[in-house]
Amino acid sequence: MSLEARELHPLSSIPGRRAAAPQAYGLRPIRRTDGRAIHGLIAECPPLDLNSLYAYLLLSEHHADTCVLAEDGSGQIAGFVSAYVPPRHPEVLFVWQVAVHPRARGCGLARQMLWHLLERPASSAIRYIETTVGPDNAASRGVFAGLARQLHATCSDSALFGPELFGPGGHEEERLLRIGPFQPPVSRPR
Ligand SMILES: CC(C)(COP(=O)(O)OP(=O)(O)OC[C@H]1O[C@@H](n2cnc3c(N)ncnc32)[C@H](O)[C@@H]1OP(=O)(O)O)[C@@H](O)C(=O)NCCC(=O)NCCS
Repeated sequence: MSLEARELHPLSSIPGRRAAAPQAYGLRPIRRTDGRAIHGLIAECPPLDLNSLYAYLLLSEHHADTCVLAEDGSGQIAGFVSAYVPPRHPEVLFVWQVAVHPRARGCGLARQMLWHLLERPASSAIRYIETTVGPDNAASRGVFAGLARQLHATCSDSALFGPELFGPGGHEEERLLRIGPFQPPVSRPR
């Protein structure tokens, strides 16, 4: 199936997750025309940093295969994950931002989007997921700890960007979480 096709993922298809959501979401790669909606979603999802709209346009232009947008039945944006493969580490999927609109939280959409990215053919060489989290971001840690369990992989936590790198604004440090090694769903024996 083309990645541009709209794919409906019932939550019950995700190992270890009960179907608790009242609806399924359409998951698809991002497009140029999504930039404004993504920017608006991130603005509603503190503590995420709101990047420039231009940054989201660049993601749609250069990293559409590793980013995903979730839409509800009326075409409203419900979630978004940005990720990319670092140039010198083709076995790593670096997850930049995970956002679920407040009305769609608590029913597995964040994990559903991450799993969807790993199911794409573009992820067949991926063996690790990396992301950065603040020391007190329980939501972020919960999402990635759950994903590590689902992948039967370990999750390590190490220092990466200290608070001094962010200037005087009072930004917390960003620690590196690394999950893996694992076989992504697309390359697992069926
Ligand atoms: C964090 C966020 C993406 C979670 O989205 P969601 O769709 O509600 O998350 P899910 O339902 O898929 O939950 C996945 C796991 O994370 C855990 N989790 C989700 N929100 C949590 C929270 N606030 N505190 C602790 N754990 C949380 C869930 O319990 C679940 O754990 P499990 O795998 O053991 O069942 C969403 O709350 C959000 O957009 N927050 C603001 C932005 C943000 O903090 N982003 C960074 C997250 S990586």
